[in-house]
Amino acid sequence: MVKKPIKEKKTVPDALKTPKGMHDVLPYEFPWWLKVSRTAEKIAEFYGFLKIETPVLEQAGLFARAVGEDTDIVQKEMFIVKTKGDDTLALRPEGTAPVARAFLEHSLGKSAPLQKLWYEGPMFRYENPQAGRYRGFHQIGFEIIGGPNDPMYDAQVILATQRLLEELKIKNINLKINSIGCRVCRPIYKRQLQAYYKPHLKQLCGDCNRRYTTNPLRLLDCKNEKCQPFKEKAPNFFDKLCLTCSTHLKTVLEYLDELSVSYALDNQLVRGLDYYSRTVFEFYIDGEGVNLGAVAGGGRYDYLIELLGGRPTPGVGGALGVERLIEVMKAQGEVAPARIPKKVFIIHVGEQAKKKSLNIIEEIRKANISVTEALSRESLKAQLKMADREGAALALILGQKEIFEGSIIIRDLKNSLQENVPLDRMIEEIRKHLK
Ligand code: HAM
Repeated sequence: MVKKPIKEKKTVPDALKTPKGMHDVLPYEFPWWLKVSRTAEKIAEFYGFLKIETPVLEQAGLFARAVGEDTDIVQKEMFIVKTKGDDTLALRPEGTAPVARAFLEHSLGKSAPLQKLWYEGPMFRYENPQAGRYRGFHQIGFEIIGGPNDPMYDAQVILATQRLLEELKIKNINLKINSIGCRVCRPIYKRQLQAYYKPHLKQLCGDCNRRYTTNPLRLLDCKNEKCQPFKEKAPNFFDKLCLTCSTHLKTVLEYLDELSVSYALDNQLVRGLDYYSRTVFEFYIDGEGVNLGAVAGGGRYDYLIELLGGRPTPGVGGALGVERLIEVMKAQGEVAPARIPKKVFIIHVGEQAKKKSLNIIEEIRKANISVTEALSRESLKAQLKMADREGAALALILGQKEIFEGSIIIRDLKNSLQENVPLDRMIEEIRKHLK
């Protein structure tokens, strides 16, 4: 049984504790993590995504090129590692750029032009830690790279994300969706946005003044109080999308309608990563105690593979934050997923029995029956108590007398009936009891 530990007075000195914004995942928390991971695996399998794992360290230049030099992630949030060989590496802040790099580096598109890939793992961003925002966190991501530039895939990524949230029994899901256009219509919109903001620059925050030249779309993402009135009156991108982009968005929405996935169009949703084109989306959870920011986000990135040196290749994907999912599940009153108890608990009495126990456990393991023990405990009473707490169906008791006779006691923990059976019939008898 995995229990929440009682805090000891003596602990590690502050200087040796987990770095700010990073956390351990302790055994008593693990059922939540397993639940999320197994559900993601099931969803990925169902929608035909294959698993991929990329290194936690990548060339820092990959993110500068893919995520964008002027983004907060690259400007302020990367953990940089200088190697002895003078390489500049970064702890990955996200998973899409590494997957795109792997797609290209291993010519994955050659074996099958359309690759549906998924991943789970730690990401790192040097952010200001607060509720739902950490420096070390975990993502689960889905990416569809290659094949035709089909709005159906945007819908499928959104659907897989939505289904994962639903399978985790997360309620009050709020999907926001937008299109940020393409190489044709976006520059025109950016110029209109700049023309609109130009007379107001003095009234805008410092960040917005910087974004005005480096990344005007991000003006729409500002959270600063004094910039809100200008945001509200900013020109609407929906009216400025080119025909191809507006048809793409319309078709994505038709797919979502067909699938009964509800959404809200949000023309100010722009995302903090520069590789997106056309569709962008974010999932929020409404309600009290779940105000952690988006639980998932993603979009289309049709220029990313080209930016990394490949041929023009469409792509679309999304990622969920595991810590945020677990926090939402807890806040919404989900109970910790129950651990499946072991079927058999081994109890020993005396030193000789203890020595024999490991071998007996091996025999039971080979027979594919789940088994556990508390070999560090000496008293029979303490071991029986632990067997009860484990919720095991049977206790196997081995003492001096049993060793001498070549037998073992099988005790049914539900009715406390027990019998002595020869060791060479132990597996057969366990199976009979478990039936
Ligand atoms: P993102 O929106 O930066 O997108 O991150 C996706 C999710 O990761 C967020 O919605 C959030 O749940 C979680 N997350 C991000 N930062 C933190 C943090 N500091 N602490 C805790 N959770 C966090 C991406 O990373 C894109 N790569 C998603 C994507 C995949 N786009 C296309 N494919």
